[in-house]
Formats: sequence, C-alpha cells, structure tokens
Amino acid sequence: MSKPKLFITRRWPKAVEEAAKEEFDVTLNDKDIPLSIEDMSNALKRYDAISPTVTDILSPKVFDVENLSCKILCNYGVGYSHIDIPSAKNLGICVTNTPDVLSDCTADIAMTLMLMAARRAGEGERELRADKWDGWRPTHMIGAKVTDKTLGIIGFGRIGQAMASRGHFGFGMKINIFSRSQVSAEILGKYNAKQFSSVEALLEESDFVSLHCPGGASNRHLINASNLAKARSGLILINTARGEVVDETALADALENNVIKAAGLDVFDGEPKINPILMAAPNLVMLPHLGSATKETREEMGFRALENCKAFFKGDTPMDKVA
Ligand code: DGY
Repeated sequence: MSKPKLFITRRWPKAVEEAAKEEFDVTLNDKDIPLSIEDMSNALKRYDAISPTVTDILSPKVFDVENLSCKILCNYGVGYSHIDIPSAKNLGICVTNTPDVLSDCTADIAMTLMLMAARRAGEGERELRADKWDGWRPTHMIGAKVTDKTLGIIGFGRIGQAMASRGHFGFGMKINIFSRSQVSAEILGKYNAKQFSSVEALLEESDFVSLHCPGGASNRHLINASNLAKARSGLILINTARGEVVDETALADALENNVIKAAGLDVFDGEPKINPILMAAPNLVMLPHLGSATKETREEMGFRALENCKAFFKGDTPMDKVA
C-alpha cells in the first residue's frame, strides 16, 4: 500500500524528519520559509496530510479550494489560532495539535522573562556590552524582588499550571488565576491558588501577570488600555501566549507613562514584524518566540504530530484531535 503524502511546512529536527519518512511519503519545505496563501492552497490540493506551524496562516481564503486532497492538519505546536477551524471543519479536515510536550519549556521561558524584566537583566547586559558599567554601587539598576510576591496567571491549562508550579514552589509566590471556566478545587488547592472572575480584578491584585491563554479573535486585546489602567502599581506583564492577546500600543503607552513597571514578551502581533512602538518602549524584554525552542521539546513536538497523523491514517481518533 502506498504511503500517505505528508507535507511538512517548515524544517523539523533531523531525527523527526527521518522518522516521518519511515511512515509517510514526505515533502519538506527545503527553503524553510513561510508559505504564501497560494502555496498553502496548492498544498491542500496535493497532499493527504499537512503539518503546518504558527507561521502558516490558514485563513478562510486558503481553504477556498476545489479538488481537496488534505484530510488532516497535524499542527506542529499547541496553539492553533492560525488555522481557521470552521473552514477546516466544513471541509471535513481533521485538526490536531501537540500539547503537553512543550508545557515545561514554555513555562521556563515565561519564568526567564519574568526574572529578566524584574531584575532588569536585558538592560544590565546592554549596559555592560556598551562598556558603560562604572562599577557596583548601592543604587545601581535596582529591580523588583520576585520571591514571595503575587503571580497572576491568565489561562490555567497545562502551561499556566507549569508556571504556577514554578512560581509557587520555586519562588514562594502567591498564585492568582483568571480562567473563563471554573478550575477544580483540587487543582487550585495544589498551588493554593485563588480564582478571579475578571482580568481587571486579577491585574489589581497581582505583582506579576503571565499570559497562558489561547490566541485568536476571542482573546484579542484581552490586555488593553482600560484594564492596564487598573493594574496594581509596579505590575510586570509577561506574554508567552500569542501576540494578539496584548494591545501592543496600550502596553507601550503603559510602560512609557509608568502605568506598569516592566514587561517581557516572547510573542508579537504580526510576528516576526515587531511594532516599532515596542522597539522604543522602556523596561521591555523581548525574545523571538523561543517558548518551545529546546532540542528535547522540538523533537517531542514532531513525534507527537507524527503520532496524531499515524493514528488518523490507521482509522483511529488522534489523541490530540481539536477539530
Ligand atoms: C506553540 O506550540 O503554540 C508555539 O507557540 C509554537 O507555535
């Protein structure tokens, strides 16, 4: 029997590409650059399965194709707000993602940003490399203490909980959370966490707020000028979720006018283009979407995407089916 044709839209770690070739008739994107709308529509007509990433925008327009071949989009990544799910469903295309395997590393990057923003690590390194450091003094580059402070977490899925674990058990932080659904007493109890019913209330009651909710239209600008204005004085905001969750103009204004103290971003609205207003914002640490970027995790993400794809072609329900 011939192998299903699988198109992998960006280069994967070698070990996973090799494993993919054993099970599938694989086509790789040798140039490793994001695909155009047209390329992606053509791929839907040509391959039985596609493994896209966050850099592939699968808008309704992309799905407007005749003679569809694609039966499954086994996304390489946990977030799938770049895929228009209603369009995929209309065409009967199965969609899967890769949860669990990246929770620890994404929470580690959120922690990295939180510590960097609080302790002014980016600024300090820039000063030193520019040969501007004139030595230790009691008032030099004073930051904010992290230990024993209050950490607010928006979105309390696997990554949010991994962040709570680091903050609570590693740094003795009190944990506040906001989630649209009621989190069980058992899970809240694990971190001694308090659930809030609004983002505003969470921002008012937390020293740090870290975002771990999905992106997409329903969470666009969940953090905005109006709720930033109500934030606790000295708030530090961390975003490792999706760029669109934060109104970047409002964030830059809040930093500029000391409405909040600092921020750390790993994701950006319209990335990899960065809104110039952020480039000029003070007290802001930025990383190029490194949340899951470790050898172990990037391999596990690939293996998980392959497991989903294999299950589908065996006639089983893939374990990470989201549509
Ligand atoms: C994820 O898995 O969602 C990462 O942000 C990369 O897409």
